[in-house]
Amino acid sequence: MKILYLNGPNLNLLGTRQPEIYGRTTLADIEAAVRAKAIPLGITIDFRQSNHEGELVTWIQQARGTADAIVLNAAAYTHTSVALRDAITSSEVPTVEIHLSNIHAREEFRHRSLIAGVCKGQIAGFGMHSYLLALDAAITVKVNA
Ligand code: DQA
Repeated sequence: MKILYLNGPNLNLLGTRQPEIYGRTTLADIEAAVRAKAIPLGITIDFRQSNHEGELVTWIQQARGTADAIVLNAAAYTHTSVALRDAITSSEVPTVEIHLSNIHAREEFRHRSLIAGVCKGQIAGFGMHSYLLALDAAITVKVNA
């Protein structure tokens, strides 16, 4: 099983970016923790980050037929991107939406996710553990697909 983890804009800054909200864990730390959990399960992890909406769209398109599930922290594009929503729909790859913070407990503009309706489900508010919980969710959606 192969799971594609995609991270959107500014997540490359984790560790120093608003640590009171996002913690001090870096994206590299999170990737290492995800890989450590996945390896004994025999799961291959492809872990990427981009600040560019179009690059994320391309990666989601390319996941069709090559990844069993996508775990997506679309970051700010969550709240704005019809393009990402359409890419998820077109790819037909089961996708789990994740966030470090609880977007529903923050500013009102973060309460709306344009991708939620085309994802299998959403995990938000557990810091780096959102990424680890998402591994279980991705396995579950693949097994039940
Ligand atoms: C985020 C929440 C988004 O609202 C924000 O724009 C981010 C990170 C999170 O993981 O909590 O960049 O996706």
